[in-house]
Amino acid sequence: MILTSFLVRNFRNIQEANLALSRGIHLFSGANAQGKTALVEAILFLATSTSHRTRREEELIRWGEEVAFLRGVIQHGEESESIECGLEKRKKIIKIDKRTLPRVGDLYGHLRTVLFAPEDLQIIAGSPQERRRFLDMAIAQIDSAYIPLLQQFRRALNQRNRILKRLQLTKNAEGMRELGIWDHTFLDYSTQVTRRRCEMTQVLAPLVRSFYESLAEEGPFSMKYSGGDEADEFIIRERLQNRLERIRQSEIERGASLLGPHRDDLQFILADKNVSVFASQGQRRTTALALRLAEAKLSFEKTGARPLLLIDDVIYEMDNTRRGRFWEQVDQSGPLIVTATSREQLGPGLQLTSIFQVHNGEIHSS
Ligand SMILES: Nc1ncnc2c1ncn2[C@@H]1O[C@H](COP(=O)(O)OP(=O)(O)OP(=O)(O)O)[C@@H](O)[C@H]1O
Ligand SMILES: [Mg+2]
Repeated sequence: MILTSFLVRNFRNIQEANLALSRGIHLFSGANAQGKTALVEAILFLATSTSHRTRREEELIRWGEEVAFLRGVIQHGEESESIECGLEKRKKIIKIDKRTLPRVGDLYGHLRTVLFAPEDLQIIAGSPQERRRFLDMAIAQIDSAYIPLLQQFRRALNQRNRILKRLQLTKNAEGMRELGIWDHTFLDYSTQVTRRRCEMTQVLAPLVRSFYESLAEEGPFSMKYSGGDEADEFIIRERLQNRLERIRQSEIERGASLLGPHRDDLQFILADKNVSVFASQGQRRTTALALRLAEAKLSFEKTGARPLLLIDDVIYEMDNTRRGRFWEQVDQSGPLIVTATSREQLGPGLQLTSIFQVHNGEIHSS
């Protein structure tokens, strides 16, 4: 899967750029605030219709303009397809081969990317929600039924919370009966989500461990999902049901669901210590890199196609040894885009396919 051409119009500070790409490493070089991350964000938006920097999509449209437009041509072996994305203030239209997609979720899988971004540190140091989101996105990349399942889970959770809120104010038989009914639906969806997250953790853990230990030459490194390490739906459901029964009174007193996938966390452990709490900045960054390398490897293993790697600004805070080891671990036979303020920043010995200069939102091959 290769993004062979990419057109960007009025996205962030890029007025217009038209790029030809191929396999290999493409460097986008430029001073601060020139549009390097804007370009990476544009590719991510074409692939997922989301941005890693904002949920307010109108921020992506170039100031003073009404519409941003992206078009990419993707080569899959002999075949090629085009993705187009038009973004207005309150409207987004995505087309594949000129046909409008009925649901944005259908975009997943056409262009697979793995983004390495400064914001990844939030997966390690941020709230449990960030870590759940990482797991959820990793699952969604390879299981198209997962996002609809998550939406069903959230609807059941909201409904159950509404009932618990009412019971908190007035406890009555009708409310308790309703809670009993929603418990079933909530348990069903919770079990399915938990099973998938357990499975993903089990698949990722050895890959992340191996990447972490190769990058840092320290360990042992492990990761653990707090929702359980047993990917068997019968066991997950029974365990959750028992725990729910035990805390029923507290849930009514608090007026909220206190247990389930919305409360779980993913823990990273280095030599028996929690990385999120104790690790140094370099160790956290290394963990984030190991997670993304593992995600890329898994994507290749599951789909047979190397994802497009987007590496924005994440390697420069590491020492030279770790940076060198990072390039040894990256699969360089697939397509790869990397940003830097200069060629030297990347470290020695890297074979570049092309270099683009980014200046004031303009991108030129050099
Ligand atoms: N919607 C927008 N329209 C126009 N310009 C924008 C918009 N959003 C952000 N910018 C500006 O675009 C410029 C480029 O930002 P970008 O984050 O791409 O820089 P960068 O080259 O990655 O820099 P750094 O090396 O500091 O990471 C910044 O000056 C930013 O303020
Ligand atoms: Mg940047």
